[in-house]
Amino acid sequence: MDWGIKNRLSRIIRPDTGRTVMLAVDHGYFQGPTTGLESPRKTITPLIPYADCLMLTRGVLRTSVDASCDVPIVLRVSGGTSILKELSNEGITTSIEEAIRLNAAGMALSIFVGSEYERQTLLNLSRLVNMGERYGIPVLAVTAVGREMTRDARYLALACRIAAELGAHLVKTYYCEGFQEVVGGCPVPVVIAGGKKLPERDALQLAYDAVHAGAVGVDMGRNIFQSDSPVAMIRAVRSIVHEDATVDKAYDLYCKAKDKADKKAST
Ligand code: 5RP
Repeated sequence: MDWGIKNRLSRIIRPDTGRTVMLAVDHGYFQGPTTGLESPRKTITPLIPYADCLMLTRGVLRTSVDASCDVPIVLRVSGGTSILKELSNEGITTSIEEAIRLNAAGMALSIFVGSEYERQTLLNLSRLVNMGERYGIPVLAVTAVGREMTRDARYLALACRIAAELGAHLVKTYYCEGFQEVVGGCPVPVVIAGGKKLPERDALQLAYDAVHAGAVGVDMGRNIFQSDSPVAMIRAVRSIVHEDATVDKAYDLYCKAKDKADKKAST
């Protein structure tokens, strides 16, 4: 692997733990002002100190993150559809030059295996990897799941393996029963999305199960920024990912940090 790609990957996945807590705040690119992200700067700023990297679009990066901030960026470069249309009909939205100008540590793009525009999204990924390889920028493939697909190990293993075969350097997918099969069949590191908002303890269990089944961490959005206490939640997720905390210990950390923040807010 090229030195530049390795170097950028080591900014995304912490070399000391081999794991990462990525904060996903890219939801607006197809679903508009998502709950909890209506004002991106307000949501993102307090979470930055606890995120190993941010996953977001260039629009939110430019408007809502200070350029002096040194958190690594994984730039969402696919899109072109909205929740009102066929979601798999994505293209590449952002040039490689733009990713370089924005000092991205990586680029992210969705693939929709089994969906109407499967071929188009897989060719998008291949093109992006070709460009990334040229300039030393790793690519994160997101295995987006169409409404008609089942999020089981068989399907997710298929999607993750295809992403890796086409050259993705890192894959983001969903946790499922039998997740070891998904990780085991994917020769590049895997991170999980959090999915829809769950009760905090359940989301921590999800992160725990994923890393214990071989994921290198999380690229979590709604289960952090829609939490009753987003900073407490990201700190609890970090304790699982980087410190191998148990779910009980992480949940305890969440409750204490939330209490402290609530008290501070009421004084
Ligand atoms: C969709 C995405 C999301 O926009 C986002 O990153 C998902 O994160 P979460 O499920 O944890 O809210 O990648 O394909």
